[in-house]
Amino acid sequence: MNSAPEINKGKLPRHIAIIMDGNGRWAEEKGHDRLFGHLNGVESVRNVVEGAAELGVEYLTLYAFSTENWGRPQYEVSGLMELLVDTIKKEVPTLNKNNISLSVIGDVSLLPANAAAELKEAINETSKNTGLSLILALSYSSRWEILEMVKKIAAKVKNESLLPENISEEDIESALCTSGIPDPELLIRTGGDYRISNFLLYQMAYTELVFSNVKWPDFRKKDLVEAIADFQSRQRRFGKTGQQINNNKSG
Ligand code: IPE
Ligand code: IPE
Ligand code: MG
Repeated sequence: MNSAPEINKGKLPRHIAIIMDGNGRWAEEKGHDRLFGHLNGVESVRNVVEGAAELGVEYLTLYAFSTENWGRPQYEVSGLMELLVDTIKKEVPTLNKNNISLSVIGDVSLLPANAAAELKEAINETSKNTGLSLILALSYSSRWEILEMVKKIAAKVKNESLLPENISEEDIESALCTSGIPDPELLIRTGGDYRISNFLLYQMAYTELVFSNVKWPDFRKKDLVEAIADFQSRQRRFGKTGQQINNNKSG
């Protein structure tokens, strides 16, 4: 068995985003219903949230349900919504025990009323926590978010509080759902596919991408640590040369 890789705790990504994929295939491989995969995925969420909090990661964004996922069969959508309600209800005490605050990005107006209410309560009840900030992307897609941002900016232009020639990157960033949250340094996608699937397109301009073949219900802290080790082995250049980056480090 491979031993866990060494990671530098002083150089952790502040913000990790995860596309939790592969639940359906995990269940189907075992001869079960897709919902069985989602149910087992909850244990991975618990484990990875706890792992991220223990390590000292500041922000963890989990892609739990996309705008496009509304188009799945009705039984799967309602099963996922019920699972969401149950899980949130159960997990609030653990979040509080671990000093974790919860927030949501996405179009919550599309969620069933009980799910929206449960979420709102959990967000309120954990709002004073100062440790890990856990962000659930629910009914979220990046193109939806960008469309909403454009509408907000267009309204400001219309009421003349912002001139078109003065629109800045800061105006864009403050009109996105992630306003105030640093861009993710590390994205992990589980489940073996190599794509972004409409997640944080604007925010991931310079994010390091790690793709894991592990399907989400099997993903654990050690896999998170492995992804962080991979992240830490890379040189982030942000358009500059490797030499410039190295010189900056030593000087
Ligand atoms: C990810 O797993 C969870 C959601 C999208 C809600 P999937 O349900 O997409 O699982 P696969 O990709 O079909 O295996
Ligand atoms: C991405 O997974 C969305 C979530 C994990 C919530 P999908 O399973 O929906 O992505 P595609 O369809 O394979 O691109
Ligand atoms: Mg999938």
